[in-house]
Amino acid sequence: MAAQLIDGKAIAKTLRSELKQKVSMRLAAGKRIPGLAVILVGEDPASQVYVGSKRRACEEIGFESRSYDLEPTTTESQLLELIDQLNHDAAIDGILVQLPLPEHIDESKVIERIRPDKDVDGFHPYNIGRLAQRIPVLRPCTPMGIMTLIESTGVKTHGLDAVIVGASNIVGRPMSLELLLAGCTTVTCHRFTKDLKEKIGQADLVVVAVGKAHFIPGDWIKPGAIVIDVGINRLEDGSLVGDVDFDNARERASWITPVPGGVGPMTIASLMQNTLFACEQYHD
Ligand code: GUN
Repeated sequence: MAAQLIDGKAIAKTLRSELKQKVSMRLAAGKRIPGLAVILVGEDPASQVYVGSKRRACEEIGFESRSYDLEPTTTESQLLELIDQLNHDAAIDGILVQLPLPEHIDESKVIERIRPDKDVDGFHPYNIGRLAQRIPVLRPCTPMGIMTLIESTGVKTHGLDAVIVGASNIVGRPMSLELLLAGCTTVTCHRFTKDLKEKIGQADLVVVAVGKAHFIPGDWIKPGAIVIDVGINRLEDGSLVGDVDFDNARERASWITPVPGGVGPMTIASLMQNTLFACEQYHD
């Protein structure tokens, strides 16, 4: 039987409308609205699309949205100076610097400059460290959104064998940590991993984030597995596909995320949740 779809688009929409309501309640109580600053350096077309969606979500929910579109030639010290200003700005609860940055800017330096209580991406070593210690925290948005998707299926994660394909700072590594904390036995795969097919064939839960169209053939999936596809790849005909061969994987899995409309909208919804969290927990 074909897998059930995990409808990230619908779940994210519900989360956004809950957040919108919370903003109205804050206003009615005479409280400040949360503020998010989104910084884009350069003109990468994919980053422009992502940043545009984040800013639109902010406006729809009723957050204050501050946009900074900086020239590709912006220096590292100019960017750090802007972050310092926003760190001290009482109207701003969250600061997001869209990645990747141009090569002349040191990403780690930038991430570490954002005050941990305004790090709504959850990338600062302080927040990753707290996540590892299971202390409530600003969590990386894509893995956080994926945990919400998995919870929506009602499947209990304790004891599941989970395979994460991709070991990036943004998705793979924090995803492994989230699943470990959720009671899974985790295997994190990367470019040097041997026998990927075998590992995937044993997984009750697979999360794929490699950015390569149809990288995982559908017949590798263990029957009954949950499949979470983080990839968004554009084919020559203009269509968007994930990292997993969806049509064949759907025949074997129990639950699967579509692309588009699966993980993507959840990253943005989680960012919005983090912004409200930062406002209420750290800045009220
Ligand atoms: N680039 C790709 N995904 C992300 C993300 O979640 N946050 C930021 N800041 N940059 C990204």
